Amino acid sequence: MNRYLIAGAAGYVGSRLAEALLAQGHSVRGVVRHPEDEVVQRLAGLGMAVWQGDLTQPDSLVGVATGAEVVYNLTSCSVLEPDAAHRLFVDGNRNLIAACSRARTVRAYLFTGSAAVYGDQGERWLSEDTPPAPCFPLGQVLTQAEQAIVAMVRTYRFPAILLRVGTVYGPGRDLVDTVQSGTAPLLGDGRNFLSYMHISDLLAALQRLAHAGQPGAIYNVCDDEPVRAAELYTEICQRLGILPPQPFAKASALAAGLDASVVGIASASARMSNQRLKHDLAMPLHYPSVYDWLDERLPVDEPVPVLVRRRG
Ligand SMILES: NC(=O)c1ccc[n+]([C@@H]2O[C@H](COP(=O)([O-])OP(=O)(O)OC[C@H]3O[C@@H](n4cnc5c(N)ncnc54)[C@H](OP(=O)(O)O)[C@@H]3O)[C@@H](O)[C@H]2O)c1
Repeated sequence: MNRYLIAGAAGYVGSRLAEALLAQGHSVRGVVRHPEDEVVQRLAGLGMAVWQGDLTQPDSLVGVATGAEVVYNLTSCSVLEPDAAHRLFVDGNRNLIAACSRARTVRAYLFTGSAAVYGDQGERWLSEDTPPAPCFPLGQVLTQAEQAIVAMVRTYRFPAILLRVGTVYGPGRDLVDTVQSGTAPLLGDGRNFLSYMHISDLLAALQRLAHAGQPGAIYNVCDDEPVRAAELYTEICQRLGILPPQPFAKASALAAGLDASVVGIASASARMSNQRLKHDLAMPLHYPSVYDWLDERLPVDEPVPVLVRRRG
């Protein structure tokens, strides 16, 4: 049995990781802001120790890491306003690392950043050695968060591992549903590469990296096959028998008031390579490509309904 601490335990990834670790018989403490939440109550019922804390409030973290061996920072903010993002990702990592350093039991700390640090790099394959080139606010803040963590690694030999995670999908975050409902906008020309990771493969990678990842290293955590946004959305629409989404110009989306980071995430090209992850973890992926998942979700041999125009 290992002792885990998960910040963001009420979130999409955090709650699923907590459940998986508890099912394996591990000890899990979850940092949450709202202990009364249904998800938190369910995890508490499964045996998770609940710690009410806020990563931006260091006082709420005193003693949080006592006894923890592996710490995951899986927090994220829905408000992408740069100051709020800075408080969570930069200050929040510093605060949690300070609490971990005081505990003296932590041997691995994993932070889940994203492809946003790479910015918009066209056709180029992106390895962890490719210099960050963030071009929208969230990417800039995540780059600063990485720099703050790397400083802790260098100065204090703190055992942090940095993850740049592709877009996570799976049950509860179904790509077909988002394309069908029109909530996955196609911005720009749609030739941009998006890197994905199925939640089941992400959970496996998170667990393996905690034990086999190199302290201080950065890992792109994504599947084998980044895909062009328009090609994926068109494929999904064809299988649904609906017309593909109309692309919007980035400038029009920004003029319409869409958040610059949302526009950036949807339109930037981030063709991440997972070579380091596969080399260090020797881990087969259940879904090496989002198209493998799509073949299960919407098999092509199903009769395709008559084309209908999408609503909205
Ligand atoms: N989902 C993706 O496609 C994706 C892609 C790349 C990287 N990532 C990274 O993967 C991680 C998990 O993502 P996710 O989709 O599971 O995020 P999520 O569902 O939005 O969950 C994030 C959690 O963070 C918690 N949180 C926010 N601010 C906090 C604070 N100040 N103190 C303590 N907890 C706080 C939230 O708590 P409340 O419930 O109180 O709001 C929420 O439970 C994040 O680090 C994210 O940046 C995700």
